[in-house]
Amino acid sequence: MARVCMLALAAVLLMIFACVSRSDGQKDRGAPRIPAQFSEEELVGMKEALKGAIQIPTVSFSHEESNTTALTEFGEYIRKVFPKVFSTSFVQHEVVGQYSHLLTVQGSDPSLQPYMLLAHFDVVPAPEDGWEVPPFSGLERDGFIHGRGTLDNKNSVMAILQALELLLIRNYIPQRSFFISLGHDEEVSGMNGALKISALLQARGVKLAFLVDEGSFILDGFIPSLKKPFAMVSVSEKGALDLLLKVNMTPGHSSAPPKETSIGILSAAVSRLEKTPMPNMFGSGPLKMTIKQLANEVNVIPSMAQATINFRIHPAQTVHEVLELVKNIVADDRVQLHVLRAFDPPPVSPSDDQAFGYQLLRQTIQSIFPEINIVAPGISIANTDSRHYTNLTTGVYLFNPICLQPQDFRSIHGLNEKISIQAYETQVKFIFELIQNADTYKTSVPHQHEL
Ligand SMILES: *[C@@H]1O[C@H](CO)[C@@H](O)[C@H](O)[C@H]1NC(C)=O
Ligand SMILES: *[C@@H]1O[C@H](CO)[C@@H](O)[C@H](O)[C@H]1NC(C)=O
Repeated sequence: MARVCMLALAAVLLMIFACVSRSDGQKDRGAPRIPAQFSEEELVGMKEALKGAIQIPTVSFSHEESNTTALTEFGEYIRKVFPKVFSTSFVQHEVVGQYSHLLTVQGSDPSLQPYMLLAHFDVVPAPEDGWEVPPFSGLERDGFIHGRGTLDNKNSVMAILQALELLLIRNYIPQRSFFISLGHDEEVSGMNGALKISALLQARGVKLAFLVDEGSFILDGFIPSLKKPFAMVSVSEKGALDLLLKVNMTPGHSSAPPKETSIGILSAAVSRLEKTPMPNMFGSGPLKMTIKQLANEVNVIPSMAQATINFRIHPAQTVHEVLELVKNIVADDRVQLHVLRAFDPPPVSPSDDQAFGYQLLRQTIQSIFPEINIVAPGISIANTDSRHYTNLTTGVYLFNPICLQPQDFRSIHGLNEKISIQAYETQVKFIFELIQNADTYKTSVPHQHEL
C-alpha cells in the first residue's frame, strides 16, 4: 500500500468504531465443498514459493524508475511456481502494461456477476541499514519469513495464486467468474498497471459485483480500551493533494535585506496552514509538510522559495474544497499555489446486509477467524490500486486477512517487514474459502414466520 500513517489510522479507527456489524446466517447452494486442508508437502511448497517471491527485488524507485529486470523475472517466476494456474483451459492470462498480470477465471455459470481479487508485486525500496536480515533474502527465522513485500503485498499476490493453484489441483471448477489483477507499479500510482487493466476491462464492458484489495487488516492492540482484535474492512480510502507553494521576489544581498523575503512570506503561509485548525473532517488526516529547497546560497537571499505540502483528503471532502480552504488560510497573493497531483477520495462502498462483497468477506472472516466477533467498516489511510477500478464496481473492499499489531504496522514501508508462516498459511486458506464462498453465498432471505 502506498504511504501509511499510523497516527491517522488510530484516529480513523475511533471514528468508525461506532459502526459495527455482527454475524448472522449464511445460505448454501449445496455445491460440494473442498476442505481447506493442505498436506505437509503443500505447506512447505507454499512458504518456499513466498520466499522465492521476496528474493526478486521488484522495487519501484520513483514514477520513472523501477527494476524492470526484476519485474520481468517475477512474471516468469509465477508461471514456474503455479503451473496449474497458467495451464488450465478456463484460466486466461494476459500481460498488461508490459509487466502487470490479468487472469480471467471463467466460471461455469455466466449468469453470476464476476468479482476481482487484487494485489501488487512491486515494493518500496529497502536499504539494508537497520534490517535484522537482508531485506531481499526471504530468510526464514523463528517461524517468520523476513523481507520487503512480506506484508505489502507479495503475500497477497502469492496467496491468491497459491489458493487458486490448490483449488485447481483438486479439480475445482468455479461457478462465478473472477479476475485476478496483479499490479507492478502500485507504490508509484498504478498508472501503468492497474489503470491499464481497468481500461481494458471497461472497454470489454465488464462490470464487477465487487473487488477485494489490500488496505486494512485484523487489528490487535490499536485501540487501548479494546482487548480483543477486530477485523476492519475498509470501504473507502483517502484522496490526496500534493500542493506546491511558491513565492517569487527580486533577489537581494543579505547585507541589505529587504523588509520581507521570499522565505519569510512562504514560512508565514506554511505556519498559518499549520496553525489553522482544520475542519473536523480532515483534521484527522496527517498534514505533512516538507519544506524543500529553502536557502541554498550563502549570502544571497533567494528570489524564490517553495514548499510542497501533502494533504490527505477525507471521503467527506473533495480536492476542490481543500484547495479553497488552503487559499483562504494562506490569504496572500504572493504565494502561488500549483497542484502537482490530486485525486478525490473514492465513493464509500456499501456495507449493509445486502452488500454482497462485504457480507461475503464478513462470512469468510468469521469462518477462518472464529475468535473475531467484530467486523467493522473503516477508511483506509493508504492509497491502493483499487481506486483505478471504481468505474467497474461500487463494491470496493480493502482487507488483508492478517492479524497485525502496531509494531507490525510500522514495518510496512519500514524496517524488518515480516510475516509469520502460520499467518501466511491462514491467508491462503482464507482465499481458498473466499473463492468457494463466492460460488455458494446467497444473500439471506427475509425471515418468515410459519404458522
Ligand atoms: C534488479 O533486479 C535484478 C534481479 O531481477 C537484480 O539482480 C539487480 O541487482 C536489481 N537491481 C537493483 C538496482 O536493485
Ligand atoms: C471512468 O469513466 C469515465 C467516463 O467514461 C472516464 O472519463 C474515466 O477516465 C474513467 N476512470 C477510470 C479511472 O478509468
